[in-house]
Amino acid sequence: KIPTVCVVGSLNMDLTITTKKIPKQGETVIGEVFETYPGGKGANQAVAAARLGANVTMIGAVGADTFGDSLLENLSREGINVEGISKISDVATGVASIIMSDHDNRIIVASGANAYVTLELVDQYQEQIRHSDIVLVQLETPIESIVRTIEIANEYDVPVIVNPAPYQVLPDKILSGCTFLTPNEIELEAMEQESLSDSIREKIILTKGAEGVQFFENGKSKVVKSHNVKVADTTGAGDTFNGALAARLGGGASLADAVYYANAAAALSVTKLGAQSGMPTDEEVKRFIENNE
Ligand code: RIB
Repeated sequence: KIPTVCVVGSLNMDLTITTKKIPKQGETVIGEVFETYPGGKGANQAVAAARLGANVTMIGAVGADTFGDSLLENLSREGINVEGISKISDVATGVASIIMSDHDNRIIVASGANAYVTLELVDQYQEQIRHSDIVLVQLETPIESIVRTIEIANEYDVPVIVNPAPYQVLPDKILSGCTFLTPNEIELEAMEQESLSDSIREKIILTKGAEGVQFFENGKSKVVKSHNVKVADTTGAGDTFNGALAARLGGGASLADAVYYANAAAALSVTKLGAQSGMPTDEEVKRFIENNE
């Protein structure tokens, strides 16, 4: 079955400088290469799911500027339905300033047009939410529109994955209305500050980078180990995981199977530069799994 995935989320242009040295406060350093890459957690997750064969629609917003045009073109080239992405005049497209060094990346996002993913926009394209097999959201767009997305999805029994990145306190409606939560370790640490009930805890699929993925199956904690790959750029690894998880669950796979598959897809994605350029196809993931078993 070809899964239909609806992503409600952000689009950014990633402005990336690679550097051997990260500047200290007040310091200037000379870095190496500057590149622009299409990014934004929402768009990255949409591309990941589309490459893996899902039918993807995205609800989001860009500015009426060259970055916005090129992000839209990029998504269309990936076969993603961009009808629900609104072009906002007089607002800049979201950008992410990324400092990338050997073992680390640091990201600051200027949300710009992503702040215009409003309740009205979500309502306008709610058909896309209703008619999908699964919905994927992150926290780079306004929280009230995420709540609304979850309300619509719940009303039509569509499962929702919430990728709580970048972390902010989650209202109860999100915690109780979502099907899965996919924090990394930093985000989980922040989530632990809130008191989470056992039923919420069991929704957590924790991505631990080189240490693999931890999730719950019938109330029991399970771990899928990470793969040993040559890392070029970890930007977007979490997004690949989320997009792949959605594509696989949307296609009817069990949670254990979907986590296993998404873990392999994320491993492949870090072998190339840029958030989206290394995202694998379904065939590549299956071959990788075969060779690693
Ligand atoms: O998860 C990686 C993404 O985070 C980057 O593409 C950047 O745009 C930020 O949204």
